[in-house]
Amino acid sequence: MRPATGQPPRLHLFVCANRREGSPLGPGCGERGDALYDALKAEVAARGVHVTTWVTKTHCLGICPKRGATVARYPGSEPIIADVEVGDVEALLGDGEGGETAASWDAIEHELHAIEELQTTKVLDLARRLKPGLTMEDVQNPHDFPELDDPDWHYADGILTGMKSVTSAMRAMRQRGRKD
Ligand code: FES
Repeated sequence: MRPATGQPPRLHLFVCANRREGSPLGPGCGERGDALYDALKAEVAARGVHVTTWVTKTHCLGICPKRGATVARYPGSEPIIADVEVGDVEALLGDGEGGETAASWDAIEHELHAIEELQTTKVLDLARRLKPGLTMEDVQNPHDFPELDDPDWHYADGILTGMKSVTSAMRAMRQRGRKD
């Protein structure tokens, strides 16, 4: 087991499309789940937010509604939602941002994350040239390693700190925009 690298989604929806035959629990979300999944995928593609909004088809989520389908949504205050129909797609994806705005924020955040990862690698590589075997955790405590008292390394680390500040400021602006 290992933690996966890469940026996690901003929103992850799991749509039940389970089919059941001859069960007292009913036929399952089945075709209604398939239709909802297709509609969500289409809306996510139309908004251009597929990198940060993931939609995954799944088996039974334990609710088995008589109409619509069951959806698990993370993060969110209501993680399991029942009776979800195709007409609920906007509400399910909606976060107060218009599609175009959300796509723009997502694209900026994705780009910043990629640049930050590149700079993180550069800082670590440079640190390991000064003292082989250093870990990322070591690099975050440079005062413990006199070898890191190097102007080039400090310059690269300063750029990384600046990038992190920009990302934090951008996320705060986005959060403020959602509340307005
Ligand atoms: S079949 Fe969809 S929640 Fe059980």
